[in-house]
Amino acid sequence: MVIEQHHDYASLSRSAAALVRDEITKKPDGLFGFATGSTPIGLYQQLIKYHQNGDLSFDQLTTVNLDEYIGLPENHPQSYAYFMHHHLFGHVNLPKDSIHFPKPSGDSSTFDGLIQRKGGIDVQILGLGSNGHIGFNEPGSPFNSRTRIVDLASSTIRDNARFFDQIEDVPRQAVTVGIHTIMSARKVLLIANGAEKSDAVYRCLKGPQTEDVPGSCLQSHPDLTVILDHDAASRLPANGHH
Ligand code: GLP
Repeated sequence: MVIEQHHDYASLSRSAAALVRDEITKKPDGLFGFATGSTPIGLYQQLIKYHQNGDLSFDQLTTVNLDEYIGLPENHPQSYAYFMHHHLFGHVNLPKDSIHFPKPSGDSSTFDGLIQRKGGIDVQILGLGSNGHIGFNEPGSPFNSRTRIVDLASSTIRDNARFFDQIEDVPRQAVTVGIHTIMSARKVLLIANGAEKSDAVYRCLKGPQTEDVPGSCLQSHPDLTVILDHDAASRLPANGHH
């Protein structure tokens, strides 16, 4: 496990973007797992800059997203399909048919099948819920879980209410890739910023590995890079500073 601490969000985002750019450059036709949430927005802005400067092409890439709400139309501003289009996919040369989201309809194992057929995820980008969730794998999610429909934890509904007019509008269910799906990625990049994530960061990286803290599974991942700002890292023993 490699842990980087950065003095601010801009520096964290630049470092995460440089890592993703290098990985796409190494494997331009790879399968990359993308994440939503406010944390990766700076990383995506930097990837768009690389693209605009001619330093990065997405034309051969295939993407899979971690999760999607159930019950929101695709063009709803809070749907994750809309989010990815708005923050990244709509600004780069990624072909539309190379973009994949888990879907609630049909057999959800189809999504894991798709990932397998494409040779597995090369790099998985992850944010972290304040309760330790990854994707929408809430506390209690089995470590051997695959893509499936889940109920959102009440703390997640509260956390995400800021994006909706009222808390009643937050969907109660989502479809998410599983913990096993995430752990099967060859490389995982976890990013977190802000003091409200410091407890989750500590419990994921230094606490006991337990299904009560979904992100704690990552301690066993053979190729994990964690990129944090000072506030998110504040409960960890001192590490490298950037
Ligand atoms: C959301 C998403 C996660 C995300 C997390 C943190 O609910 N399902 O994939 O990592 O919660 O979000 P944020 O980055 O906005 O704090």
